[in-house]
This record gives sequence, C-alpha cells and structure tokens, in this order.
Amino acid sequence: MRLPRSLILSLPVCSSYAAAKAVFAHYMVGTMTATEAVTDVKDAINAGFDAFALNVPSMDDWATSAISYLFSAANNAGSNFKLFFSFDMTQFNHPSQLLPLIEQYAANESYLQQDGRPFVSTFSGGTISNDDWNSKFRQPLQAKGINPFFVPNFDNWSGYPNGFFNTFTVADGVFGWESAWPEVSAGKVNVSDSVDQAALQEARAANKVYMMPLSTFQFKHMSGDGQNWYRIGELNYFDRMEQVLSLQPDFVELITWNDAGESHYVGNFWPEQIAGTDIGNYANGFDHTGWQQVLPSFINAYKSNVTDISKITPAGGKAVGVMWYRSLLTTANCSPDPMGKPSGWQNAQDAINFAVILPEGASGYTINVYSNNKQIGSFPANAGLNGQSVPGLQAGGGQRVEVVDSSNKTIISATGTKDVQAQTTGLCNYNYVVAALS
Ligand SMILES: *[C@@H]1O[C@H](CO)[C@@H](O)[C@H](O)[C@H]1NC(C)=O
Ligand SMILES: *[C@@H]1O[C@H](CO)[C@@H](O)[C@H](O)[C@H]1NC(C)=O
Ligand SMILES: *[C@@H]1O[C@H](CO)[C@@H](O)[C@H](O)[C@H]1NC(C)=O
Ligand SMILES: *[C@@H]1O[C@H](CO)[C@@H](O)[C@H](O)[C@H]1NC(C)=O
Ligand SMILES: *[C@@H]1O[C@H](CO)[C@@H](O)[C@H](O)[C@H]1NC(C)=O
Repeated sequence: MRLPRSLILSLPVCSSYAAAKAVFAHYMVGTMTATEAVTDVKDAINAGFDAFALNVPSMDDWATSAISYLFSAANNAGSNFKLFFSFDMTQFNHPSQLLPLIEQYAANESYLQQDGRPFVSTFSGGTISNDDWNSKFRQPLQAKGINPFFVPNFDNWSGYPNGFFNTFTVADGVFGWESAWPEVSAGKVNVSDSVDQAALQEARAANKVYMMPLSTFQFKHMSGDGQNWYRIGELNYFDRMEQVLSLQPDFVELITWNDAGESHYVGNFWPEQIAGTDIGNYANGFDHTGWQQVLPSFINAYKSNVTDISKITPAGGKAVGVMWYRSLLTTANCSPDPMGKPSGWQNAQDAINFAVILPEGASGYTINVYSNNKQIGSFPANAGLNGQSVPGLQAGGGQRVEVVDSSNKTIISATGTKDVQAQTTGLCNYNYVVAALS
C-alpha cells in the first residue's frame, strides 16, 4: 500500500536536535539465562555504556525470554543503564512484525527515551520503502500513542548517504554500519570516515541525528556460502576512536558487545548462544574483554567534547591499555582447514597492536613491544591515547607490550595468552588474542 502524499507530509517532522551524547553497544539477543543477563548489564555499565542496542532477530520464545531477562537486569541494576531495540531486518519480512514488542516495552522504565520518545533502531532494512516504514511502522505506533525516535541502519539503501533524509522522511536519524571497517576489496588500507562525514552532514542539514559505528575488526569463519572473511583490525579500533572524537557525531554504537560469529565482541558471549554452530571453534578461548580497558576514558572524552586523542584522560587517573595480535601468521597456508584462508587475509598484517591511555602531563614514558621475546618496537608515549600497529610478529611465545617510565620502571604491561603459530594443523583462525595491560 502506498500512502497518499498529503498523509506523509502531515506526519510530525522533528526539528532541531541537541541530543545528549550517548554511547551504545550492539547486543546480539540469543538464548541465555537471567544470571547471564545480570552479568552483561553490570559489565556494560562498568565499561561506560549508556545502553544496549538489542539486536532482535526473532519473536520466538528464546528471544522474548532473553529480552525480558535483560529488562529485568537493567531495572534492577540501580543505574541509568537503558535498552532499546535494533531490529535485524534481514530476519523480518515486514515492519509490522516489529510492533508488538515495541508496544510491550516502549514504556518500560529501562527503555531508552530520546526527548520522551522510545529510541528504535535496526540492522539493515534500507531496501524497504519509506512509505512502508511509514504505513506499517510509524503510523500504527502513533495510532497507539507511541512516537518512536527512529534511527535505523539503512546504509544498504542504494543512494546512501546522499539525500538520505529526503527519501527516508520516516527517520529521525541514521545509523551507519559498513563504515566501521574497510571493505575486504579495499586492500591494505586504514579505515576511512568519508561516508560518516557525509552522513553526518546530511543529518545536520536535516536537523536529524547521526549514530556512528565503532568496531574492532571482523572475522567470520562459518561453513556455508561466503561466510569466511576478515576485515582489517590492526588499528581499526584506535582509528575509529580518533575519527569519532574528531567528527563528534550525536551518538556512537560499538559493534559489538557479543557477536562471536563475526568476532568483534568486546564482552562475554554465552555458550548456549553459539551452540550447534562452528563459532566456538574460533571464538572460544579468545577473550576480548581487554578491549574494554580504553572504553570508559574514550566515552568520557567523547561526551566532554574532546576532539583530540591527546586530550583523552584515563578514567581512573592511572595509565590503561590493551594489546592485540593474531595467533597465526598470514604466511600459514591453512591447507588443513577445508574452509581455507578467509577472504581479505591479504589485508591482514603480522603485527602486535596496542592502545594505551596515559594521564595528562605524562612525560618520559616509552612503550616497548616484544614478539617471541625479541623487541620489535619502542615508542615514546604521550598523554592521551597512544596507538601503534607494530609489524614483526613472530611465531612463538613472549608476545608482550610494556609501558615504562623515565626510570625504565614498568608501569603496566601485558603478555598475550597464546603463542603464535607459523602453520596450523587445524583451523585457519584469524581471531585476535586480546590482553589488558595491568
Ligand atoms: C519492564 O520489563 C520487565 C521485564 O519484562 C518487567 O518485569 C517490568 O514489569 C516491565 N516494566 C513495565 C513498566 O512494563
Ligand atoms: C538490504 O537489506 C535487506 C534486508 O532488509 C536485504 O534483504 C537486502 O538484500 C539488502 N540489500 C543490499 C543491497 O544489501
Ligand atoms: C595507516 O595509518 C598509519 C598510521 O596510523 C600509517 O603509518 C600507515 O601508512 C597508514 N596506511 C595506509 C595504507 O595509509
Ligand atoms: C558539549 O557541546 C555541546 C554543544 O555545543 C554543549 O551543549 C555541551 O554542554 C558540551 N558539553 C561539555 C561537557 O562541555
Ligand atoms: C630497561 O630495563 C630492561 C629490563 O629490566 C632492560 O633490558 C633494558 O636494557 C633497560 N633499558 C634501558 C634504556 O635502561
């Protein structure tokens, strides 16, 4: 059904936004227990997040139970932590399928509100027309007194981001996804923020909001059609933080809290969510929580309008940091693995990467990097966020990053929990080993 144009124009149009900045984590809703929900909410609060963007792929019991556990956990957390829905539109045919859940939770005490309106987002869905989103989503909700603040991820609309808000008048803002990493086909490049800049400009011109994606990397390695790829992660996380501060978007969404399948999780993922898949083969034992080390400081800086990484101060006053590397060299042929090397493997670099935040006024600090117990790099470190991708990763143990002061005393350090292999006898695993400096 197409709406008469007069009706579309009569829908309320949002004017100017001075949104309070907030940072969310994309959260894959999956089978879980109430206790696991409590842990996730507590961990996300400690990492500095304002809300989980709940990636809802289904209205089946396992999903609605998990959602209920998460709302209960947020309600009982004794903080201002919120939740909102981010519907996975690759799993729904029709926007009207989303309505019952929004009607149930829009007024929940832990549902995120923006200007008194429930915040709703999506993954994908930009190939569904604006008319359909109006007539099958916004209008029926408004008829029930619910006026969603709609910030969908419609970056698979063919014209994205140019003229986005002229086409999608239904949206109050837009969330980018693909701009969080270089494409596999882009080669060995650093992540670009040119699409984010354009989307932000569109949003500013239309008095709408832009929600910018931030992510670590991607590695998916599942049997099945085209499910084997690597998207650059050497300094991606660091580069995106720098870009977020410089662009100052309205909102930031981290991709992701717990997507083990694509490996960009920074939190726990639970065994029952990946049961019966190949995912555990490459994600189990690869703890990524070290990536949370730099989040509270980054989030504070973003919310304080800090635009330069050198002005980020560690949230707890003391130096913090994280290092990451892959435990298989890119020269491994991976012949024992029927899936072989992931597409994009040529873009990967054999490197140890780090992000370290030092207090204001820090001077005389040095960051030393070792692989297989040999020094591969040494860098003067300054106040704020320091990051490097240090080539020269070697097979063996002793994968180490340390921060020393001017008297050569170690302030914080980390040694990777896994040795690096030159060849694999099993899986071609491009997941990252991540370790917090302490
Ligand atoms: C919010 O959701 C939780 C979990 O389903 C529920 O226990 C609580 O009653 C809800 N609150 C409201 C106001 O609906
Ligand atoms: C965009 O997303 C929809 C799901 O909403 C999917 O069916 C479609 O294939 C995607 N289109 C492109 C061009 O990626
Ligand atoms: C990526 O950025 C780093 C500095 O962060 C720089 O040394 C390197 O040359 C860049 N790579 C490319 C391909 O531009
Ligand atoms: C950040 O900038 C916004 C917009 O200019 C302003 O409203 C807000 O008070 C600033 N926040 C801080 C912490 O300075
Ligand atoms: C710093 O200490 C380490 C180990 O304690 C030592 O190997 C290194 O030579 C020292 N470096 C300097 C510049 O003194």
